[in-house]
Amino acid sequence: MVSLTVNGQRHEVDAEPDTPLLYVLRDHLALNAAKFGCGLGQCGACTVMVDGVAVFSCVMPLLMLEDREVMTVEGLGTVENPGPMQRAFMEEQAAQCGYCIAGMMMRAQALLQGNPHASDADIRAALEPNLCRCGTHMRILRAVRRAATMMQSAGAETTGAVR
Ligand code: FES
Repeated sequence: MVSLTVNGQRHEVDAEPDTPLLYVLRDHLALNAAKFGCGLGQCGACTVMVDGVAVFSCVMPLLMLEDREVMTVEGLGTVENPGPMQRAFMEEQAAQCGYCIAGMMMRAQALLQGNPHASDADIRAALEPNLCRCGTHMRILRAVRRAATMMQSAGAETTGAVR
């Protein structure tokens, strides 16, 4: 049994210690935004935040998550009240097939929480581990820039999460 916090909610998870966080999120907690792409830490579709850092959840075992804080894209806002990152991606129509987008948003969220004034070069470098096969990179870049502006004007650099 491992205790972890996901999107502000405490959970006790009964699973094998080497179960990847991605499986815990999807199969045990019904949080399906993070996607399985490669399962090898090479595509970024599964990206979530752990203690504020973007990680590949497909290669992070449950045993490493005791008493740690996980945030998924579901924690950034709701359908009724999307957070700045979610709004920015919608307003820029940054998704095409959408499979990579939850991971892109979480890596961008981690970037902007640590560096609210990230430059274009910072954004490009931070998002490099996350692949998009549809080729919407320019729209994704615009969305992250827009999210940064929204967060700054709302004073929400570190409070994008809905608890
Ligand atoms: Fe985790 Fe590809 S599914 S990096």
